[in-house]
Amino acid sequence: MEFTRVRDVLGGEFEGKTVRLRGWIHRIRAQSKMIFVTLRDSSGIVQTVIKKAAVDEDKFKAASKMLVESLVTVEGEVKADSRAIGGYEVQVKDINVLHYAEDFPITKDQSIEFLNDNRHLWMRSRKMSNVLKVRDEVFRAARAYLREEGFYETTCPMFVSTMGEEGAELFEVDYFGKKIYLTQTSQMHLEPQLFAMEKVFILAPSFMGEKSRTRKHLTEFWHLEVEEAWCDHECNLKRQEELISYICKSVVENRSYELAELGVNPERLLKIKPPFERMTYDKAIEVCQDAGLKIKWGEDIRTEAEDILTRDRDTFLFIEYYPKEIKSFYMKHNPENPRTYRNDDLLAPHGYGEIIGGSQREDEADRIIENLHRIGDDPEKYRWYIDIRRYGSVEHSGFGVGVDRLITWMLELEHIRDCVPFPRTVSRVYP
Ligand code: 4AD
Ligand code: MG
Repeated sequence: MEFTRVRDVLGGEFEGKTVRLRGWIHRIRAQSKMIFVTLRDSSGIVQTVIKKAAVDEDKFKAASKMLVESLVTVEGEVKADSRAIGGYEVQVKDINVLHYAEDFPITKDQSIEFLNDNRHLWMRSRKMSNVLKVRDEVFRAARAYLREEGFYETTCPMFVSTMGEEGAELFEVDYFGKKIYLTQTSQMHLEPQLFAMEKVFILAPSFMGEKSRTRKHLTEFWHLEVEEAWCDHECNLKRQEELISYICKSVVENRSYELAELGVNPERLLKIKPPFERMTYDKAIEVCQDAGLKIKWGEDIRTEAEDILTRDRDTFLFIEYYPKEIKSFYMKHNPENPRTYRNDDLLAPHGYGEIIGGSQREDEADRIIENLHRIGDDPEKYRWYIDIRRYGSVEHSGFGVGVDRLITWMLELEHIRDCVPFPRTVSRVYP
């Protein structure tokens, strides 16, 4: 007989039938004549009951010694039972203990610090396993959308010799005696590839050396970066809103069970549909000033300003056309408002912060050189990057999605680390 998944038992089609299940002991309560066991596999949890009279005597004895997280196979009959979680109970006829667990350190009422130290075990919790399954769907949906739209997935180096974003702090690596960095964005190695493939993306980690101890910052985060030829600012914003909407819809379609277990209302995600509202940076500064924030034109939009702009919103907001002094040298000059670039940041609802940073890219080599001179940087360091604009320079745009931030908003998590299997923050690289 084959093994049945717990989720399928709860689906009801096995009522009155005998099934074989395999998994871990989620909860156990042993009495003299009966053992109540909640069994967990990757698909869910189900109540099982082992009656002394119904199984072999030695097996009953063996089962009564089990601690949580022991590994078992059971065979039994599925009965509808309204008192059981999920509405079904399995009445066990046979049980085999494959591995006796030691005393599991994770019990109720543990501190966040303790759970993070025991991440390798905590990830078995219902909460974390549901979050990780939503994470999988976000990765899958992002790739599916981009493939459907004709993009090629590619790779870029994580070891780099130039900075990606000025101002960002980088992790230095001793590379055989030479100082290099862990990449903070793959953009600069992605752009040359669009001259070969026109539409490209990469899903990879980026590394941030800044000491930000906030709910929104990881030192290693997953970055979905997209570059597209023949694409201007308008086209770029459209691409971003379509991608985010597609991911939200896919998560509702394919992870409704997990969303329900996590207490997330799918209507929140279904509200995310193109077009997203847009606001110029100029207007955003006005709105923040009117709300009483001390902010001047030319300053970046940080946490407090983001909160003001998004606290009453249920959907995403684009802020476009930022001043040149707070954005990067590779962005396209905006002739309609020459102090600004043709760029955008996409803000998540209710203060979850910046999910995307994007721009049309400057395709004139001379302008990039001019931008670098203006900020006191040496164009020679970027020779290869500028070089791609010398041979059939094409209008193009791109953006980078902070995938972990997107998931944090999606599931209304308290901290960005809650959506990562093994998070890396300023204060944690263990386990
Ligand atoms: O705005 P950023 O710094 O943009 C870039 O690096 C561009 N070169 C991307 C591109 O155009 N290809 O980062 C992009 C996004 C942010 O909007 C944010 O969501 C996320 O990456 N991000 C972080 N996520 C978690 N922890 C951090 N420390 C992050 N820093 C950026
Ligand atoms: Mg940014």
